[in-house]
Amino acid sequence: MSTDNPEVIFHDRLLSLGLARVSEAAAMASARLVGRGDEKAADQAAVNAMRDQLNLLDIRGTVVIGEGERDEAPMLFIGEEVGNGDGPEVDIALDPLEGTTLTAKDMPNALTVIAMAPRGTLLHAPDVYMEKLAIGPGYAKDVVSLDMTPTERVSALAQAKGCSMEDITLCVLERPRHEDMVAELRQTGAAIRLITDGDVAGVIHCAEHEITGIDMYMGSGGAPEGVLAASALKCMGGQMWGKLLFRNDDERSRAAKAGITDLNRIYSRDEMVTQDVIFSATGVTDGSIVMGMKREPSFLETETLLMRSKTGSVRRMRYRNPIR
Ligand code: FBP
Repeated sequence: MSTDNPEVIFHDRLLSLGLARVSEAAAMASARLVGRGDEKAADQAAVNAMRDQLNLLDIRGTVVIGEGERDEAPMLFIGEEVGNGDGPEVDIALDPLEGTTLTAKDMPNALTVIAMAPRGTLLHAPDVYMEKLAIGPGYAKDVVSLDMTPTERVSALAQAKGCSMEDITLCVLERPRHEDMVAELRQTGAAIRLITDGDVAGVIHCAEHEITGIDMYMGSGGAPEGVLAASALKCMGGQMWGKLLFRNDDERSRAAKAGITDLNRIYSRDEMVTQDVIFSATGVTDGSIVMGMKREPSFLETETLLMRSKTGSVRRMRYRNPIR
């Protein structure tokens, strides 16, 4: 599909502010649930608000990365049509609350996340795990790869950066499945920031090394989150690779349903997001990328990261909404 076709011109400049409103609304709806120990209620509030705002946009949108399949998710399910039906046909990838546990426990880096791209240009990743590898901008193409061992990746990145392996900082989800990888990485001398959840933020951290200190993200996490992270890196610069992981036949059949035939394929960032994309994430809890919401008796304040891959523009927008 080509965006040169006037029928499918993607007015991302106009739509981007609308998209920021969508992630803002989802965050604000979950504000009262931060630190209340109720993951489900926080997620539900964000889902409802995100859907209401999305349906105000001038788009003919289809959710391709959503809350799950229709039978598991009453709203924002994969395949759900969103928007007011007036405008370009677009794919929507969303996670109304990326870090439900982080939100319930008021821990850093919970976000509301949404990306939008012309119809047919986002990978329809099934709800399985994805092996992920990401680095920030400024490196030669394919300087690291998923085919390398963790040690080889650290060594190659250190060489490209002109530093020693001890000067590399990695970000990894703290999970039992990553114990061997972390043990191997410890031998390289590299530093590891272990995160308990939220690998969309983990990947984005690589794109702003000067702020976050992270050079490389690696390990497995949700495949839907992988496509959202690839959308963010496409806007900010940086490289990312993902390989879907299947544990059983049910997961393989989810892939078949999503139209994926090569189960061993390694997807580059631009194979997960093949054309221009807009991306918006609003901070729910404080994080290195955006601040969390500030709740005062008379107002609620949010910070949103709004980006367009076409221009590489990265906006951080603060929004203060009076509480009446
Ligand atoms: P939720 O917000 O849906 O709970 O996802 C949080 C998250 O940490 C993602 O960022 C990550 O991709 C995934 O869960 C990892 O899955 P698991 O907890 O099964 O290791």
